[in-house]
Amino acid sequence: MKNIVLCGFMGCGKTTVGKRLAKRCGRKFVDMDKYIEQQENMTVSQIFERRGEAYFRDAEHKACCELAKQENLIVASGGGALTFQRNIEAFKGKDTILLISVPLKVLQKRLAKDTTRPLLQRPDKEQAMQELYEKRMPLYTQAASVVVDGAHQPDAVARLIIATMGLKKEKK
Ligand code: S3P
Repeated sequence: MKNIVLCGFMGCGKTTVGKRLAKRCGRKFVDMDKYIEQQENMTVSQIFERRGEAYFRDAEHKACCELAKQENLIVASGGGALTFQRNIEAFKGKDTILLISVPLKVLQKRLAKDTTRPLLQRPDKEQAMQELYEKRMPLYTQAASVVVDGAHQPDAVARLIIATMGLKKEKK
């Protein structure tokens, strides 16, 4: 069975919703950032700091190709992953790419105190988020074949995905 790859802006709930969705569907959950951290033996912040963003993007691409070879997964992608054509191509046609769409204002509130995302550690965070959001939303929308409203509690979003996609619980 195809993978379901969750995409969307940082803070949209890919990881939290993904875990709950996987539990409800009886599928395996993979967080792409965690997968990269295990492969590289560093946190995402350390990779950005020590190797730079381009290195991270290559590691991310490798992760996309490896995960696309597997089946039946719920994958929480990193917020930048599905804005790159080479990563979209790795999944598209084979897996379902699903966008969790959340308004910018909600994301800015959710991420106001975040210290874990290298791209947001700057004084003009709100402005940087707006620019990135405007650039990325059309790319996510193009990549995704399913879009759900993510401005709710994680369990409600997981249930919405199940209803929208007509998912059934897998027997193990
Ligand atoms: C990134 C988002 C992060 C992580 C890295 C880069 C981005 O993932 O992959 O910090 O470019 O938007 P989350 O969306 O899980 O925060």
